[in-house]
Amino acid sequence: MANTLLQISYSLATIENAVHQFWQCVYQYRVFAFSGNMGAGKTTFIQALCHYLKVVDHVSSPTFALINEYGFEQDGLVKTIYHMDWYRIRDAEEAINAGIEDTLDNQQAICFVEWAENVLELMPRPYIQVEIIPISKEVRQLTVLLQNV
Ligand SMILES: Nc1ncnc2c1ncn2[C@@H]1O[C@H](COP(=O)(O)OP(=O)(O)OP(=O)(O)O)[C@@H](O)[C@H]1O
Ligand SMILES: [Mg+2]
Repeated sequence: MANTLLQISYSLATIENAVHQFWQCVYQYRVFAFSGNMGAGKTTFIQALCHYLKVVDHVSSPTFALINEYGFEQDGLVKTIYHMDWYRIRDAEEAINAGIEDTLDNQQAICFVEWAENVLELMPRPYIQVEIIPISKEVRQLTVLLQNV
């Protein structure tokens, strides 16, 4: 079962506002799956989100590093963000060998996952699904769904 929590459109000029609205809606969740075609804007949105959360380390595309780890501060505590790209992961065994389960099990960390659909069975419930669809060259539609079954 999926519930739609939010649907908004944004451009690069308004992405900060989109990220703000997004985070107000989902800050109590821990695991996020970003879906959308190549070039839809998953990494771009996650970078803006990491900037909004004031991560200390540099944020880049994790396409070559499967798991990128960043630190950020929340309620006076240093917390971890795992930004993952499962594009090259084909099954659960590969995912487990890459150490993905440990990141998902870490209750103190937030996980942002691109291409989670490759091994969707690994995603712990509930998780937030974020669909990004280009509706023009500059405008993206963001749909936020709660996946709890
Ligand atoms: N509103 C927008 N939001 C995000 N990206 C945009 C927007 N408008 C234009 N773009 C451009 O679209 C591209 C999105 O690329 P990005 O790497 O974020 O995609 P991706 O979904 O992570 O792709 P991949 O599946 O290859 O990882 C960038 O070149 C970005 O500048
Ligand atoms: Mg990407």
